[in-house]
Amino acid sequence: MDDAALEQVIQGVIKNPDYKMIDPGLIKVIAATELAKGRSNREAIKQTRAKLHQVGKAYQEKGIPVSLLTKQLQQLPRDPFHPDCRQFSLEAMRHHRSTAERLPIVENLYHDVFSRIPTIHRVLDLACGLNPLSIPWMNLPALQQYWAIDIYSDMVGFLQSYFDHMRIPGTATVGNLVDAIPEQHADLVLLLKTIPCLEQVEKNIARQLLDKITAPFILVSYPSKSLGGRAKGMPEFYTSQFHRLCEGNGWIIRQWSYPNELVFLIEK
Ligand SMILES: C[S@@+](CC[C@H](N)C(=O)[O-])C[C@H]1O[C@@H](n2cnc3c(N)ncnc32)[C@H](O)[C@@H]1O
Repeated sequence: MDDAALEQVIQGVIKNPDYKMIDPGLIKVIAATELAKGRSNREAIKQTRAKLHQVGKAYQEKGIPVSLLTKQLQQLPRDPFHPDCRQFSLEAMRHHRSTAERLPIVENLYHDVFSRIPTIHRVLDLACGLNPLSIPWMNLPALQQYWAIDIYSDMVGFLQSYFDHMRIPGTATVGNLVDAIPEQHADLVLLLKTIPCLEQVEKNIARQLLDKITAPFILVSYPSKSLGGRAKGMPEFYTSQFHRLCEGNGWIIRQWSYPNELVFLIEK
């Protein structure tokens, strides 16, 4: 691989501010893959941006208004369960398409899941988007640590401000799951609507993730419609893909189906 060409492609990609906040490691992996296909620098820049759009930008086309949200956050009581803070969370989650489409079911989903598992102390929310703002709907009375990881540095910075302001023991960090699978020892790992995204970059990532995660509980979900709103047999497709991934492991699986989202709880 020609290092100079790779650097030129990376710089070309981040010239557009839409891609500046994304984890540089992910940009590098995608750019290198595109160059390895024999593409010109110009074409590699275009294809890298297209892939980054698919896995990230498509969920926040207008970007997350972090300055505005942070200002609003500072005016709120330091209690995530306060009605004003819940309202803030619900409004803020509209800025990321994945949490926006979960809003009608957020309460039921987390009620259903948390009523099936023992007390959770440590949560690892992988490719979290704005999902940590749903903490008030999770039953976490003895939370010791909530780790949140995503590729967008501005969004992650805002999540850290949310944790700090609400005095939630949380750490939000930028990370690329394709590069390294986090090793934090959590009781519950959230992998919500993330597998299809990661598979756009690394085909075998789902099996690696599910095998390497040491947590006793993993909550996995899939969208049941595309971002454009079409179902196209997605629930059937993802259900059989998920069962294939778990085959032969002896894990206990529970399943819920909500409008827009198919949810599986793995107990290892
Ligand atoms: C479909 S959204 C799901 C967000 C969140 N889990 C939820 O359900 O609300 C996919 C998320 O994955 C993030 N993402 C994409 N590729 C990633 C990667 N390689 N490593 C970590 N996060 C990634 C995106 O920024 C986006 O927030």
